[in-house]
Amino acid sequence: MPSTLSYDEADHDARRARQWLSGRARGTGVSRTDLVELGAAMSALAAAADERGPVALAADPVGVDPGIVKPLAAEMLTPLDGNAEMRWESMAGQGYVVPTDRFFVRNHTRTPRLDAATWRLRLHGDGLRGAPTRDAPVEFGYDDLRALPAVEIPALVECAGNGRHFFAAQQGTPTPGVDWRLGGVGVARWRGVRLATVLRQAGLTADVVDVMPEGLDPEYVTGGVNLGRVRRPLPIRKALDDVLLAYEMNGAPLPPDHGFPVRVVVPGWIGISSVKWVGAVEVSTTPLFSPWNTRFYRMFGPGRPVGGGPVEAQPVKSAFELPWAARLPSGTEVTLTGRSWSGAGPIDRVEVCTGDGWRPAELVEADRGGPWQRWRARWRPPTPGRWTLRARAVDVTGAGQPERARHNDLGYLFDGVVRHPVTAV
Ligand code: MTE
Repeated sequence: MPSTLSYDEADHDARRARQWLSGRARGTGVSRTDLVELGAAMSALAAAADERGPVALAADPVGVDPGIVKPLAAEMLTPLDGNAEMRWESMAGQGYVVPTDRFFVRNHTRTPRLDAATWRLRLHGDGLRGAPTRDAPVEFGYDDLRALPAVEIPALVECAGNGRHFFAAQQGTPTPGVDWRLGGVGVARWRGVRLATVLRQAGLTADVVDVMPEGLDPEYVTGGVNLGRVRRPLPIRKALDDVLLAYEMNGAPLPPDHGFPVRVVVPGWIGISSVKWVGAVEVSTTPLFSPWNTRFYRMFGPGRPVGGGPVEAQPVKSAFELPWAARLPSGTEVTLTGRSWSGAGPIDRVEVCTGDGWRPAELVEADRGGPWQRWRARWRPPTPGRWTLRARAVDVTGAGQPERARHNDLGYLFDGVVRHPVTAV
């Protein structure tokens, strides 16, 4: 079931920032001045980027070693700086979920090889009864988790930088980071135990504020600084809502690249929240910080708050299941297919434009209410030559897609209408 939680992330973020500035919040790898100085620093870097083209920022960091275990079949996945982007044309004719062989991979360093028999989930922090420490945590083994009540949900995981390519290609404002087109997204069936079940069993106190899962992949080093293990806090309201500790993906144990033995799945929120290879969870009565919610994965730039704005739910996007620069037969009717999605709720309607105005696309009824929506539209390319296809969607909250996405310095949450070129022959 999609979440119906109404949650004011800006309000939570402001509270976090106030507590941080008054010294009540903690986080390793972040200094307090980070929050107040980052906004100005990132704006200056963006201005420099405008003058000199893209600058090498330590943003949306890229691992040096590709470190991906699964084969990257060229017709399904495009390697991208140690990550792998799904090819949208490989989804044509597929079912609702993205088969695991073509699910995108985003690794900060490399996929670790872990053993389920020795793996432990270690919970610690003052938000648990008895305030267990990192050295003496509350532990769950793999079999302990599998013995708890299981749920299976289709959920969308998407990189916050998905679509970043189009800030440069369509809007002329390049941003640093992985150059995703639209293939940094996927829906899978995730099976596991609710994070809420595990937190309650571990003994939640009444005044918990944040929960911070941490991965077991190698520590992330950038610009000579070790930022430690990948980790990002979640507000307790989201953690207790629809978040899963998943051990299966599409009906099979999680593959190594997608978080074996256990990962967090935070439906609809930016992919960095869905920490893979989770090994520890801090549960805290004060707000938590990490570089992944202060230096990266915040909205910096002109018109953004000092210290950056929060980035949580994904905006609306649409993609055609076609190769980039596809060749289509002129004078013959073709069925264009695609998918639209939003982190804020199900898609309500989709329109396509093949050059002659916007018209409704036909939605696949079975998908209504799910994390993404398949659609189709017929088109007869009238003459040979180059054409531009566009698709845009509106979700149930009324959010849609502008022609131009609002800029931010790190290139997150691109929601503009993508102009997909095709050639009719
Ligand atoms: N978790 C860990 N431990 N390390 C990572 O590098 N990458 C995050 C998230 N979880 C990451 C992680 C990012 S940025 C994304 S978009 C998703 O995992 C990608 O999940 P996937 O590789 O299964 O598609």
